[in-house]
Amino acid sequence: MEQPGEIKKVSMAVIKRLPKYYKYLGELMRKNVERVSSQELSKILGFTASQIRQDLNNFGEFGQQGYGYNVSQLYTEIAKILGITTNHKMVVIGAGNLGQALANYTGFSIHGFDIIGIFDKNPNLVGRKINDIPIYPVEDMEYFINKNNVDIAVLTVPRDETESIVNRLTNTAIRGIWNFTPVEINIEDRDIVVENVHLIDSLLTLSYRINESWLQERLLKQKRKDKPFGHGKNTTYMVK
Ligand code: NAI
Repeated sequence: MEQPGEIKKVSMAVIKRLPKYYKYLGELMRKNVERVSSQELSKILGFTASQIRQDLNNFGEFGQQGYGYNVSQLYTEIAKILGITTNHKMVVIGAGNLGQALANYTGFSIHGFDIIGIFDKNPNLVGRKINDIPIYPVEDMEYFINKNNVDIAVLTVPRDETESIVNRLTNTAIRGIWNFTPVEINIEDRDIVVENVHLIDSLLTLSYRINESWLQERLLKQKRKDKPFGHGKNTTYMVK
């Protein structure tokens, strides 16, 4: 049983839904919408209204019956929970195709994630800038991270380089690693959290869903074909 003031452990499933709430509430704020009900949130986000109430109750009593949620208050609270009321400083390690694409994306800074440096071991890249962000030699990584209080390292080096870079990062003040490499990172140091991003997982899910609807269609066609006696209630199908 929880004690007053005790921090409640929230499930990962809830945490993963929070950015969706946050993004949509941001849209409502831009449209000057002042309040929103769990039913309205449900229609847009696709979670049930009771799921939404349950999710948000994890963090306090935000809603009021008959009124719904105050959009800007809820937005601010979720931002606090997500830890984005203060800006995060990031560095990208590996200025190749992916590292450069991420550094070129301006959307991160809108949410308070500022890339302030890029590191690479290739001397031909060092000294150049991507989206006005300098590329430094990777030898300077630790010094730069500690000196500039960098929170997050974005890891976009080749697979074989991952382990040595991660070892080096554990000797810095870094708080989080946004890992794009295919290597599963295990860090014993509990002060550093790792979030793995695998675009291929998302693509495989998409493929599964395409395949699923194709399978359902096939099944339906098969059912129609196998229907022996018209549309009667007692028709038996011969679907395998
Ligand atoms: P890339 O070969 O274009 O870039 C890698 C960069 O890292 C190069 O500039 C190289 O000089 C640099 N580098 C190598 N060793 C280094 C070290 N010790 N310190 C600093 N920099 C170093 O590769 P690409 O296509 O950008 O991919 C990067 C990583 O991202 C790979 O591990 C790849 O598998 C992964 N990836 C992951 C995706 C995902 O969905 N998570 C999607 C695409 C790539």
